[in-house]
Parts: sequence; C-alpha cells; structure tokens
Amino acid sequence: MSRTLIIGAGGVAGVVIHKCCQNPEVFPDICIASRTKSKCDAFKAKLDGGRTAITTAQVDADNVDALVALIRAYKPDLVMNIALPYQDLTIMEACLATRTHYLDTANYEPPETAKFEYKWQWAYRKKFEEAGIMALLGCGFDPGVTGVFSAYAQKHYFDEIHRLDILDCNGGDHGYPFATNFNPEINIREVTAKGSYWENGEWVETEPMAIKREYDFDGVGRKDMYLLHHEELESLALNLKGIKRIRFFMTFGQSYLTHLKCLENVGMTSIEPIDFQGQKIVPLQFLKALLPDPASLGPRTKGKTNIGCIFEGVKDGKPVCYYVYNICDHQECFREIGSQAISYTTGVPAMIGGMMMLTGKWMKPGVFNVEEFDPDPFMAALNRWGLPWKESFKPTLVG
Ligand SMILES: NC(=O)c1ccc[n+]([C@@H]2O[C@H](COP(=O)([O-])OP(=O)(O)OC[C@H]3O[C@@H](n4cnc5c(N)ncnc54)[C@H](OP(=O)(O)O)[C@@H]3O)[C@@H](O)[C@H]2O)c1
Repeated sequence: MSRTLIIGAGGVAGVVIHKCCQNPEVFPDICIASRTKSKCDAFKAKLDGGRTAITTAQVDADNVDALVALIRAYKPDLVMNIALPYQDLTIMEACLATRTHYLDTANYEPPETAKFEYKWQWAYRKKFEEAGIMALLGCGFDPGVTGVFSAYAQKHYFDEIHRLDILDCNGGDHGYPFATNFNPEINIREVTAKGSYWENGEWVETEPMAIKREYDFDGVGRKDMYLLHHEELESLALNLKGIKRIRFFMTFGQSYLTHLKCLENVGMTSIEPIDFQGQKIVPLQFLKALLPDPASLGPRTKGKTNIGCIFEGVKDGKPVCYYVYNICDHQECFREIGSQAISYTTGVPAMIGGMMMLTGKWMKPGVFNVEEFDPDPFMAALNRWGLPWKESFKPTLVG
C-alpha cells in the first residue's frame, strides 16, 4: 500500500489532492504538508471520508532537516513537490537522505536570480541512481504533457522530428484587469525574462515579447501569442533526436500586457530588494501580495485553454506534420473540483506522473524528464483522468 507526501497547498496542489482522492487504488494514503497547515487541514476537511486516508503536517520546505524529519515520520514511497521551484533542491536533498522517490512540476530557479535551468537538478543524476531512487522532473502540462506529446509523436509518427512549436493558449477570462493564473511571482519572472528558442544547435535570444504571431485555436478562436523561453525547450533539445528548431508561444491579452508593461516601467516586477520604511522588501513579492490568489480565480473564470505541440519531420522518407493538443474548459474544471483550468492542467499530469511511478510503469533509478519514458500509458491516462487530447495531421503551421 503506497504512501504519498504532497508538499504545497496552493492552486495546483489542490488539483493534485482532489485527483489522488479520485484514484484511491494508487493513492490510498496521502499526507498534505505545507508552510501554512490550515490550508492543508482545509483540504482534509473537504475530502476526508473517502477511500484515501489523509493526514496533514506543517513543514518549511526550504529546510532540509525539517523535510527529512517529516519524511522519516510519515515514510512515503513518493514525495510530490507541488510547492514552488525554489524548493526543488531542498526537497531532492531530503529525498536523497531518506531514499524516497521525487516528482515536481517546475525546474529549479534560485530566488535571487530569475533564471530557471535544469543544470542544478540534472547534477543529481548519479546520486539518485546510486541511491536507487527516481526523480521525475517537470511533470505538469508545460513542461510535462508537452514532453509526453513529443515522445508519443516520436514513437508513433516520425523517424525524425525537425521542428516543434509548443502553443499554450489560455482563452479564459477571469474578469480582473490583471491577475496571473498561477503563482504571480513565478509567472511574472517567466514572462518578463528574455525570450529564446533553439535553432540548429544553438539558443537564439530575443527581447521579451519581441516575437508575436496570431493563431486560430480549436475551441478558443484567434489569439495573439508571443515567443517565450520555456523550460521544456532545454530537455527536448537534448532528447528529440534530429531536432533543428523548438519554439514556445503563449497567448496574452492586451490588458495583461499593458498592465505588465506599466508595472515593469515603475519597477514593480523587480526582484532586487529595496528599502521601504526601514525594512527591505522585494517589489515583485509586494505585488504578489496585492494580486488575486490564483486559487481564487476558479469561480470567476470562463472560457477554455488549448495547449499542444505541432511537429514537422519525416517518416519513411516522406514529410509528416502532426498536431496534438488538449482543450480544457475552466468552468468544467470548477464544477468538477473547484479549480480553474491552469491549475487543473498542471495538477492532473502531476497525479498521473505519480501514478506512473507508483505502479512501476515509469520506474528506474536516476533523474529524468518525462519524454524519456514510454508515453503510451500516460497518454491513455490523460484521456481517463480529465485531459483528453485531439490530433490533426494537417494543422495550420505557425510561420
Ligand atoms: N508545469 C506546468 O505546467 C506548471 C504550470 C503552472 C504552475 N506550475 C508550478 O506549480 C507549482 C505550484 O504553483 P501554484 O500556482 O499552485 O502556486 P501557489 O498557489 O503559490 O502554491 C504554492 C504552495 O507552496 C507552498 N510553499 C511555498 N513555499 C513553501 C515552503 N518554503 N515550505 C512549504 N510550503 C511552501 C505555499 O504555501 P503558503 O500557502 O503558505 O504560501 C503554497 O501552498 C509552482 O512550482 C509552479 O511553477 C507548473
């Protein structure tokens, strides 16, 4: 009987917890641990009484000793890190000390530098392998499902994939002039950074939001989208053999961009601490305190997301084009489990990744990205657990 420790009690963790409770055969026993224990207790109060036994705990996930003590006390088979990227390394250290499997949804970035990269976590490969434990990195939607889609395309439809465009469209409207759909600090650090894409073996860097395209998304309609750097580009550039170009585009509405530019211009998105009335504050953290909690957007958000991958390459010497994507409805997610679609599309794949590990379908010692495993059971689970996918062999290309 497996035991799973879920760290974090925010928007995405809420989905993971609900989905684990819908899947008691794989998750008969979970412990929810976070910085604020009352948030963990609120989930327990809502979901207790089913076939998944739930306990809760307080933990500071920046503190390796505290994590080790919690893991020794609860004895989980798997730790799911659904807190923030800042905690990836401390939780991995604690997993190593206790020989416990690990999963997360976002790669490490140091709090003081807005730069995420896999190098810090990939450095644990040998240690995890020697300890006989597995770490599954970036198992949300993007990264996560986008890597599974890539492995699926590679396995079934291509001899070589030459070009990949990842398109992340949120056609949802929460009615606020400005809010972010997941943790505001992490989100704003991501979208204000320079863009980049992989071409012919090199990174090409762009100014933030400098490359814009329009795309007509199934289920959503026409949207402006902008090229961003995104973490799965780094692992897919290594793991897709023969790849020549990978780009990532995300849609943004005009109101979001106008507010963001204004906040940037006055210094509110800066992560450099400033002196304010005798104390140091980080402007972006202050802004986070003012913005709506993403977990509270569920009841107000209408519309759909459409996230997917367009591949171009060759099979048996002939050119092939393949688009695979999921459409997710914000209000349906809310009706099902009380969350908006951004948390839902991240939390469901995290639960599925945990399921792949606990059932032994994806299990080997070391540190891995999702595209390194057989995509078929994961693809089947997406259809079963709320994120069905569609495919097209004649998609419109981005250009
Ligand atoms: N791959 C993808 O597709 C994707 C998409 C979206 C988000 N994500 C990732 O998903 C993760 C969660 O995002 P979210 O929107 O759910 O964030 P969130 O709502 O801010 O929740 C984060 C949770 O982590 C807890 N936490 C933060 N620091 C902690 C610490 N030191 N010790 C213990 N708990 C701590 C917070 O505690 P408090 O409640 O006390 O603040 C909160 O409950 C992030 O890593 C984000 O990057 C991935």
